[in-house]
Amino acid sequence: MLIRDETLDDIDAIHDLTSTAFKPMPYSNGTEAEIVRRLRAAGDLTISLVAEQDGEILGHIAFSPVTIDGAHAGWFGLGPISVKPERQRQGIGKALIVRGAELLKDMGASGCALIGNPHIYGRVGFSSDGQLKYLDLDTRLVQRIVFRGSPPSGTLQFAPAFES
Ligand SMILES: CC(C)(COP(=O)(O)OP(=O)(O)OC[C@H]1O[C@@H](n2cnc3c(N)ncnc32)[C@H](O)[C@@H]1OP(=O)(O)O)[C@@H](O)C(=O)NCCC(=O)NCCS
Repeated sequence: MLIRDETLDDIDAIHDLTSTAFKPMPYSNGTEAEIVRRLRAAGDLTISLVAEQDGEILGHIAFSPVTIDGAHAGWFGLGPISVKPERQRQGIGKALIVRGAELLKDMGASGCALIGNPHIYGRVGFSSDGQLKYLDLDTRLVQRIVFRGSPPSGTLQFAPAFES
């Protein structure tokens, strides 16, 4: 399996994959594929990686700038992330997250934050100390990985593409 940057030819496959992967999820509001398009259009798709095997896109991950208490300070958000339903739980998501985190670190990023299942993201180094907040969500779902500096505290805000 190859993890690589998206190309123009991948855009429709990424859209379909994102729609299909999120469709059965109870927390999905059906906008995730559109969020990826909006991030790209706004120039906020800092990193967009695909997992490809035999010419098929099996997974995708997006990273975009975030702010914490209104300041960017080198922080990025992970998501949306999608793996083809038949190929989930086989390490593809993890491979995308690990590669994305390496690229962010190489760029000099301070860290990466996300909203998600701690059972998944805790396996790849994300954690919560309750200091990073998002709306009124349980802070255990608001996780981050720190590359440089101190762990952040404050209110996380994603790029405008996430506002539906
Ligand atoms: C979330 C998602 C991207 C994970 O990708 P994946 O390829 O299935 O995940 P991986 O196989 O790489 O698993 C990564 C780790 O998380 C754990 N994990 C994965 N799915 C899990 C689940 N549903 N519940 C608990 N743990 C889970 C795995 O055990 C693994 O840990 P390990 O390597 O220590 O065993 C994929 O399930 C998906 O596309 N879901 C639908 C879209 C979605 O919900 N996106 C995320 C929104 S926050």
